[in-house]
Amino acid sequence: MEKVIFDGQLINRSEASVDIEDRGYQFGDGVYEVIRVYNGKMFTSKEHLQRLFESGKKIGMDIPYGLDEIKAMLEDLIQANNLTLGTVYLQVTRGVAPRNHMFPSSDVKPMFVAYTREVARPEENMMNGVKTISVEDIRWLLCDIKSLNLLGNLLAKQKAADAGCFEAIQHRNGTVTEGSLSNVSIVVDGVVKTHPANHLILNGISRQVMLKTCEKAGIPFAEKPYTLDELKNADEVFLTGTTVEVMPIIEVDGQRIGNGKPGEITKKLQELFKAEIEEQCGQLFIQQ
Ligand SMILES: Cc1ncc(COP(=O)(O)O)c(C=O)c1O
Repeated sequence: MEKVIFDGQLINRSEASVDIEDRGYQFGDGVYEVIRVYNGKMFTSKEHLQRLFESGKKIGMDIPYGLDEIKAMLEDLIQANNLTLGTVYLQVTRGVAPRNHMFPSSDVKPMFVAYTREVARPEENMMNGVKTISVEDIRWLLCDIKSLNLLGNLLAKQKAADAGCFEAIQHRNGTVTEGSLSNVSIVVDGVVKTHPANHLILNGISRQVMLKTCEKAGIPFAEKPYTLDELKNADEVFLTGTTVEVMPIIEVDGQRIGNGKPGEITKKLQELFKAEIEEQCGQLFIQQ
């Protein structure tokens, strides 16, 4: 029987039911995280949970549990569902209250839910690279908050899917921001360049892991904005994200990147990323 965490309790999924006046359901008034699980262990859980608390703080919502308490709940959930390779999704909404734009009184307790899902590593895409399109970034200006309001991201991702592409690369007036569910980096003359972590992007945990591996391996990098033109003429382009890890991009808007194959630095970063996973979660094996 699949278990979930509902209002902080580990229960059967069939017993969990969301109130129609949950503010997450009505307004998207809440925050979330997706954490990767390899070999039954969470990867970078502390960083994800710290970001969850930061997101909560930025929307003026107090999460009614401590970081270690949430981590322990998620570990119990992973164990109860026998999850070895997948993700754990968690969200906290501002709770259940009569519909009103103003925040409810402080006695309304935020609602914490979580569930797990089996997800393989995207090995084929990681090996061959993926095609992308560019789209205008039409989202709001607090993209650093991992908020439940994802309509802008959904519209972008759907445009990519309709074009037969894996991801949409968003830009504001020609400056590349990020993907719909990933961060985007380029490599030019051996230097990795990625948008600075400000209000225009989500500061991806995978982005941070990737930058840390650059530092450790002596690969030069810069957290600087770059244009759509630079992206299309870069030697290499890649995505980072919890489910995509480090994923090469071989095409943008039908234009080939480099020689149309995953680049050497991207491949090196994939190896370094895998080493970080293995350090925390144990050895990874190729899936059948
Ligand atoms: C808009 C956006 N940017 C970047 C990312 C990558 O973040 P992370 O590496 O923490 O998964 C995500 C992940 O869901 C995302 O939704």
